[in-house]
Amino acid sequence: MSLAPREQVDFLVLGGGVAGLSFALEAAAHGSVLVLTKKGRSEGSTQYAQGGIASVLGPDDDFDRHIEDTLVAGAGLCHRDAVEVTVREGPERIRWLLSLGVEFDREEGHLHLTREGGHSRRRVAHAKDTTGREVERALLAACDARGIRIVEDQLAIDLVTSAKLGLSGPPRCLGAYVLDRASGDVSTVVAAATVLATGGGGKVYLYTSNPDVATGDGVAMAWRAGAPVANMEFFQFHPTCLFHPAAGSFLISEALRGEGGILRNKAGEAFMVRYDPRKELAPRDVVARSIDAEVKRRGDDCAFLDMTHLPKAFLLDHFPHIYATCREFGIDMAAQPIPVVPAAHYQCGGVVTDLHGATSLPRLFAVGEVSCTGLHGANRLASNSLLEGLVFGRRAALVARELLDGGRLVAPDVPPWNPGNALAPDEGVVVTHNWEEVRRTMWNYVGIVRTTKRLERARSRLRTLRSEIREYYWQYKVTPDLVELRNLADMAMLVIESALRRKESRGLHYTLDYPDADDAQLRDTVLTRSDAE
Ligand code: FAD
Ligand code: SIN
Repeated sequence: MSLAPREQVDFLVLGGGVAGLSFALEAAAHGSVLVLTKKGRSEGSTQYAQGGIASVLGPDDDFDRHIEDTLVAGAGLCHRDAVEVTVREGPERIRWLLSLGVEFDREEGHLHLTREGGHSRRRVAHAKDTTGREVERALLAACDARGIRIVEDQLAIDLVTSAKLGLSGPPRCLGAYVLDRASGDVSTVVAAATVLATGGGGKVYLYTSNPDVATGDGVAMAWRAGAPVANMEFFQFHPTCLFHPAAGSFLISEALRGEGGILRNKAGEAFMVRYDPRKELAPRDVVARSIDAEVKRRGDDCAFLDMTHLPKAFLLDHFPHIYATCREFGIDMAAQPIPVVPAAHYQCGGVVTDLHGATSLPRLFAVGEVSCTGLHGANRLASNSLLEGLVFGRRAALVARELLDGGRLVAPDVPPWNPGNALAPDEGVVVTHNWEEVRRTMWNYVGIVRTTKRLERARSRLRTLRSEIREYYWQYKVTPDLVELRNLADMAMLVIESALRRKESRGLHYTLDYPDADDAQLRDTVLTRSDAE
């Protein structure tokens, strides 16, 4: 299935993960929905989520505890209203997933709840260690059952805005230009409401747990369209990705530490006790920095997560996917500690929204990892992001339906995509070289521990790279790789600029030049196009 050169719908949803599909399922009752995914329909971070979904579900838990844990992890920057909304609406969203047929693990008739770092209670509902796959399966099945149109291999290039078209009246988003990966054709999709549900941008770093589609397209598109973007300096590094040359950055779920996993150095010492009294269950930023420090202190190349004190049957039952994947790489986690290193995992910042996912550009919404709702502050609490996608996907649809003007969208004439005099690309090496350089620069200079000097070095590299990419972009026909590279470079620049503006250490942003938190800077870092060209 492909798109017509011009499409018109009520709701255009860019992204088919937990956030986009939650929006689509709610909005479908009110108007026509078109969901676009840039590769296969299920390919996105949601599909790979392991640990589960945090919510108040256990008899010993309550909303105040989940709110407090989220606020503590967020290190002073969470917006309390966003936290309250997310936590309080969580149990109902889990019941909704159950009604769609999601098979969470159960124990004696109740949901089995696991525990992760920063949580004071067991509150993470999960389906073994492949929760995301199960959630995505059920959401896609529900979309199919309701006849929602999902078109794969469609890469949104840029948003169509009234300002770009020189239209009078209040600024607004009118839809998007979309590249068909197979044919290379660009369609114009006009919509009453456009929803960015494009996920995060972990690919901006050389080593990441994220799938290839996570190139920060939504943040880059929104920023270019003039929507404010916030808190991009807070990039979460997951403490434990499998350290193996052939494994990519396969995630070793935090739930393993929740069930008693011990971090050891190469000499076999359990080192977390030296870094934080909460040891392995400290929030992620603390654990990732501790591993980084321990590995650097000793000159090792990785740390180890030891599960060998737990029965093999327990490991096989709770973590079948992780067990099997480690086995593929010759590691039997029941018999030997798993070699692990931190890798870029989650973008806590994003496109600024209100409590209904609305951005400051009318008719443009952002939900899920692409957004900055205020929930995560300076550091996301584990397993709060699937929850955010579920809650805000639905909330955005409740407001977006009010844009339907009685059911009829009056769309101005949006001109088709103008390829200008663009030539067929003949310098593919520019794309591959710059792609690698952006990601390596970010890893080396804008990683877990930062300094102003390294950030400035990264900024200067990115200036050159972005100007080369811009030149190439306007000279040649757009290709998927080129579109993603341009987004990745914009995204990198937003992370660097935000990090340079925060002259303190807080949550995920740690700089040796300002090692302490400074409450005089207790505010979001908000960038608009004019701040960071
Ligand atoms: P995604 O699920 O990433 O979906 C993005 C969608 O946007 C995809 O369909 C993609 O094709 C589409 N897209 C992107 N760009 C474009 C474009 N230009 N045009 C068209 N479509 C586009 N969180 C938890 O809460 N619990 C966990 O246990 C957990 N485990 C994780 C494990 C891993 C390995 C990873 C990577 C993340 C994990 N997370 C977890 C984080 C969580 O999975 C993500 O934050 C969440 O799934 C994001 O959902 P989303 O709907 O915003 O985006
Ligand atoms: C994990 O399973 O460790 C990932 C959980 C998350 O990212 O929230």
